[in-house]
Amino acid sequence: MTEEEIINFDTADPLAAKRQHFELPTGKIYLNGNSLGPLSTAAKLRVREVIESQWGNDLISSWNRHRWIDLPLAVGEKIAPLIGAAPGQVLCCDSVSINLFKLLAAALANRRREHAVILSQQDIFPSDLYIAEGLIKLLRERGVSAELQLVPSRDLEQAVTKSPDVLMLSHVNFRTGAVHDMQRVTDLAHKNNTQVVWDLSHSAGAMELALDACQVDFAVGCGYKFLNGGPGAPAFLYVASRHQTGLQQPLQGWMGHRQPFEFEPHYQPDEGINQLQTGTPSILSMSALDAALSCFEGINAAQLREKSLALSEMFLSILEKDSTSSELTLVSPRSPHLRGAQLSFSHSQAFPISQALIEAGVIVDFRSPNLIRLGFSPLFLSFAEVAKGASSLTQIISEKLFWHERFSVRAKVT
Ligand SMILES: Cc1ncc(COP(=O)(O)O)c(C=O)c1O
Repeated sequence: MTEEEIINFDTADPLAAKRQHFELPTGKIYLNGNSLGPLSTAAKLRVREVIESQWGNDLISSWNRHRWIDLPLAVGEKIAPLIGAAPGQVLCCDSVSINLFKLLAAALANRRREHAVILSQQDIFPSDLYIAEGLIKLLRERGVSAELQLVPSRDLEQAVTKSPDVLMLSHVNFRTGAVHDMQRVTDLAHKNNTQVVWDLSHSAGAMELALDACQVDFAVGCGYKFLNGGPGAPAFLYVASRHQTGLQQPLQGWMGHRQPFEFEPHYQPDEGINQLQTGTPSILSMSALDAALSCFEGINAAQLREKSLALSEMFLSILEKDSTSSELTLVSPRSPHLRGAQLSFSHSQAFPISQALIEAGVIVDFRSPNLIRLGFSPLFLSFAEVAKGASSLTQIISEKLFWHERFSVRAKVT
């Protein structure tokens, strides 16, 4: 690909101006927005305002004056259009793991069969599996017969025909980037009287999602990846309106109570999606996410998807023209429509290669045991950066620049 062609891509990019909303360090190419989205100016200014003016000056009155108390619902409503949800079904709160616990428990409580079954895929994000395991363990200890069934992706459809209570899946696989057909899988589950809980952590903010149109039951998703909410930003959850009446979620804290400030001794759930709240929301973090979501104003998810696929296709086309690329094995689907906004490659030296890339200013991550993972966030990346990132990767491999002891030292977070 010539330099001119790359420039043409950037000139024609309808999202190019969005880059100015982010405070990216110069000299770094950030291919890790799928793990931790970058700082936006809006988030920085909002956190400063919340700390200095709201918390600093208005103190506790800010719960009313600055509507801190309404943030979980308000931020949920901002996320809703990005995932194809009508109002009243999305709430911002807690972490993905905690939200998943609430929703899996609620989905199982909907059924009350002799034997409760959650079906999932072996290689989804482990925290989701740990949470399901923990819930199953709790049920068993209370004498309820329950089971978590894990199958490889290729066996999922067959396993759904056995009518598990719940199918829990990641829409985009965190390792490979492989994407499930949400409509097809949800339809199949419903035909078999199974409810579906989708984890949207690697899709929300990067691709089109149509939860209402697909008649999804429940979903969770991450605030700090493509939504750019900041480290440890609160997550979100979705409960279709039809499941909200009579819903039973076990983490029934005061913020989900009908009248939290009446301090009644017994729990009475609020109506609607707010009953999924548990404790006091983390206002600093949620404010950052709220502000960061303004970066999505004026664009639609189809534009995000189109650009992220064009970026990853450009990366692949540069790589595939270079002979060193034969050393890397693409573990993401080669067909763009079958993957999310990421590419993963396996290599026996994946860790040192990822470290050499980071030292060269191309920020990627490593996923054990042997994957180099690159995210193609459409809001802030340029085609020129992606082209440079691809050239760095081929250079590091062809010149064996990763052969140095310092690239093998592993920190706690990879
Ligand atoms: C797909 C997926 N699900 C769940 C999680 C866990 O999220 P949390 O730490 O908010 O519980 C992650 C974290 O990276 C993830 O990638």
